[in-house]
Formats: sequence, C-alpha cells, structure tokens
Amino acid sequence: MKKVVFSGIQPTGNIHLGNYLGAVKNWVAQQAEKVNYFCIVDLHSLTIPQDPADLHFQTRSLAAVLLAAGINPDKCTLFIQSHVAAHAEAAWLLNCVTPLGWLQRMTQFKDKSVKQESVLTGLLDYPVLMAGDILLYDAHEVPVGEDQKQHVELTRDIAQRFNSLYEQGFFTIPQPVIPEVGARIMGLDDPTVKMSKSLAHIRGHAVRLLDDPDEIRRSIKRAVTDSGNEIRFSEEPERAGVNNLLVIYKAITGKSVAEVEADFANARGYGDLKTRVAEVVVESIAPIRQRYEQLLKEPAELDRLLARGAEQARTVATPKVDQMKEIMGLVLPA
Ligand code: TYM
Repeated sequence: MKKVVFSGIQPTGNIHLGNYLGAVKNWVAQQAEKVNYFCIVDLHSLTIPQDPADLHFQTRSLAAVLLAAGINPDKCTLFIQSHVAAHAEAAWLLNCVTPLGWLQRMTQFKDKSVKQESVLTGLLDYPVLMAGDILLYDAHEVPVGEDQKQHVELTRDIAQRFNSLYEQGFFTIPQPVIPEVGARIMGLDDPTVKMSKSLAHIRGHAVRLLDDPDEIRRSIKRAVTDSGNEIRFSEEPERAGVNNLLVIYKAITGKSVAEVEADFANARGYGDLKTRVAEVVVESIAPIRQRYEQLLKEPAELDRLLARGAEQARTVATPKVDQMKEIMGLVLPA
C-alpha cells in the first residue's frame, strides 16, 4: 500500500528558498511514489491580521508557484484549505480533546505572539488546525522544515489522545519527515535567524522564488559572511553565513559534503563562493518564475485545477470528519 503524505504552506508573505529547499522541492521529488495531499493553508494565514486583497491574490499566486515548481495535479491533490470545510470542523472537534497547556508550550506560538500587539485566539489554536489537516487524511508522512517538527509531534499527541479516548487506531499516527539538508535555511542578511516569509520583504534577507536572476545574484552577493576565507562546512556560530551558503549549494546540487568542499577547493575567497552559489540557485529557480508567469495568464485553468483538487480532498476528508462526529456522540443529519 502506498504511503499517504500531507503537507501545507501558508499563502502569506513571499515564498522563498527556505520553503523550497525545506519542503516544496521534496514534495515534488516523491510525488509519483506516494499518495500526496498538498494544501495551501489560507485559514492558517488568518491567525495573523491580513489585508484581505493581499491574501486573496497571494492564495492563487501561491497555487501557480507550486504548479510552476513541479507539483503535478495528475499525481497529487493540490487544494486550498478553506475549500474543504472538514478542516475547520476537525479543528473544532480536536480543540475539545487538546489541553490548553499543550498549545501554550509551542515555541512558534511564543515567538509569534511576542511580535503581536494583540494575540488572536487563532494563533494559539494554529497547531490544532494543523493537526486536523494531517489527521483527516490519515497521513503517514508530513514532509516539513525543522521549524514545523514540534507541530507534527503535537499532532501525534493529539491523535493518540483522541484514539485512547474514543477508538484505538482511529487516526494514523503521522511521522514528520525532515530533509537531511535544507531543513533550516538561514537569513542571508543574518545567518543567526531562519529565512522567513515575514522578513522576506527586507532587502537581502531571502531569495524569493519569484525574484529575477539579477535580484537573486544581488541578494547572494550581499550575504553576510565572516572575515576569513576558508570554504568548508562548520557549526561555529561565527561561520554560520558561509555554512548557510554551502548548505544551499549542497541542497540544490545533491552533492556530498566532500564533493561540495572539493568544488570550492580552488576558489579565491568568498566572492567566488557567492558567484557559484548564485549560479546554481538561478539555474534551479529561474524556470519556476517563467512557468509561473505563463500560468497566471490562464486563470480559468488554475481555478479548474484547484476545484478538482478540493473535490478530491473532500472525498477523503468529509467522511473522516463525519466519523469523528459520530464517535464523539454527535448526531449526524438524517
Ligand atoms: P510555512 O508556510 O511557514 O512554511 C512552509 C514550509 O517551509 C518550511 N520552511 C523552511 N524550511 C527550511 N528553511 C527555512 N528557513 C524554512 N522556512 C519555512 C516549513 O517548515 C514548512 O514545511 N504550519 C505550516 C503549514 C501547515 C502544515 C500543515 C504543514 C499547515 N498545516 C500540515 C504540514 C502539515 C507553515 O506555516 O508552513
């Protein structure tokens, strides 16, 4: 039996190289071997105040980026979360088995809430909605970057609690799948913080998937490094900038540590390193931008694909949420 895979991405902010190397590239790579659900999680984006027009534009734009990046709707189910009502319903049902303390412990909640003037209830509840996403499809695997690992572990705890309260084996217990390389791409302007959508508007922070080749080269040229000239992988905090560039190169080329270091054995300093890294990045992501522009010219086709994806997702998610209701004691409509 094929493994079921579920993963999601928020439509707000600029999709960047970290999202690509930490998640999307791996979604594309294994889509033929497994049963895949890839979800544009617009309900999650609402947990931080959004401009409605921006959210609306970015949701469809992200769908086009994912298709341009190689997500094939004939091999997987690509859909918008709010198109499948079972997600919001599952979140409510799971809220009623999730202790508050589990949510208050989440590091992403703590990080994000200090940045908000007023913290919305949805932000605290974010991981429960995410648990619903995953559990509705009985996903075995959840391919994500390092920052989402804690949320997938919480999903396992929620599933186990539901199973022990109501019915052993009801939910499949999912596994986070974190890539060996690229799971935590750091900011180019500050290699001590992870590359993030919410900072991607800041000049030089990120390579955005829709940047043109010159912008990509400029951002990588400006990347913060150190005052040395040795090009090798390193865990030392002061060498984090060079390490990050090597990680990007390794994740894109698929080479081993030794092969990557050999590629740079004759490099003349960090200038050479940046030029070579920029070239592999441009080569791998420039085609995405070209295909994206093509797809935006066919909005009706994009909508058709998304409607088909939602339809496919509903055939799994709706009966599952109905079963949840039933075993929790709710009366289903006759
Ligand atoms: P989001 O939209 O923040 O990010 C999408 C994916 O990109 C990964 N990622 C990174 N990987 C490497 N380096 C980085 N700097 C970096 N930044 C982000 C994230 O780990 C993620 O895999 N909560 C999720 C969306 C979600 C979801 C789900 C994921 C909702 N429901 C169910 C899996 C399953 C999020 O906000 O991702």
